[in-house]
Amino acid sequence: ALERALRPKLLADYIGQAKAREQLEIFIGAARKREEALDHVLLFGPPGLGKTTLSHIIAAELGVNLRQTSGPVLEKPKDLAALLTNLEKNDVLFIDEIHRLSPIVEEILYPALEDYQIDIMIGEGPAARSIKLDLQPFTLVGATTRAGMLTNPLRDRFGIVARLEFYTPAELGTIVYRSAGLLNVPIQAEGAFEIARRSRGTPRIANRLLRRVRDYAEVKGDGVITRRIADLALQMLDVDPEGFDLMDRKLLEAVVHRFDGGPVGLDNVAAAIGEEAGTIEDVIEPYLIMQGFLQRTPRGRIATLAAYRHLGVAPPQAAGGLF
Ligand code: ADE
Repeated sequence: ALERALRPKLLADYIGQAKAREQLEIFIGAARKREEALDHVLLFGPPGLGKTTLSHIIAAELGVNLRQTSGPVLEKPKDLAALLTNLEKNDVLFIDEIHRLSPIVEEILYPALEDYQIDIMIGEGPAARSIKLDLQPFTLVGATTRAGMLTNPLRDRFGIVARLEFYTPAELGTIVYRSAGLLNVPIQAEGAFEIARRSRGTPRIANRLLRRVRDYAEVKGDGVITRRIADLALQMLDVDPEGFDLMDRKLLEAVVHRFDGGPVGLDNVAAAIGEEAGTIEDVIEPYLIMQGFLQRTPRGRIATLAAYRHLGVAPPQAAGGLF
């Protein structure tokens, strides 16, 4: 079974994100009742928290088609125009990584979002002229890892904005248990919770770790995922007791050992660990910050006492009294 097979198809099967789920349920219900297109939806938050899954659920709950693309794929205005003109009444258009739309493509989107109209150029040179085309009413669902990267005019055109949060261990435990059922993997509650607890608050990671722990259980054990099997497998996978992976630890170690705990600028840490600044900001840091191991300040990144403790390193003198 693929990742897709584990994704819930309806809101009722979707676990966690209570806030976004409750809001969407109401706004989708209202749009359905009025037989109107749902207002445009912006989903933002770290990768793997269910933005794509939610966009599919939104279309399914509305009972309409979903067309899916992403910011970098839409190179020319005509790429977007082709998608928009093929939408049926109240359809959902999902644009992943919407912060990476080129400015000329974004320009086409504004009148489409506001008035369900697009201006397209016909012909070239002196004979070129622009004509207005009417579109069917539709819903744009845009997804981005950082809402701050959107231009103001684009952000302003979303009537519904949902910020996806990291999942609690209990929510992830339920997800792992559900996925194990779908995959026909025998699992004990303690095994599911151990995987959940060490999945960085992220369903995509939890489901990936579940598959790897299943492999381990089948080869090294009797196939049942127990707490002990999960622990041994996760240790082998370099997922530490906090659920941090190699990149998490590399980042914390760099800040602590190479920059005396910080503050250190993003570009300096990026160079030190050989990772792109964008990846650090979108993928690695958010969980470390949420868990209180790293702080993002105007002067740069700072390792907290929890980070020192986690790495087994004595904190600097000034902080020693608090340790
Ligand atoms: N699988 C991945 N994400 C999920 C979620 N939020 N709820 C249920 N199953 C999931």
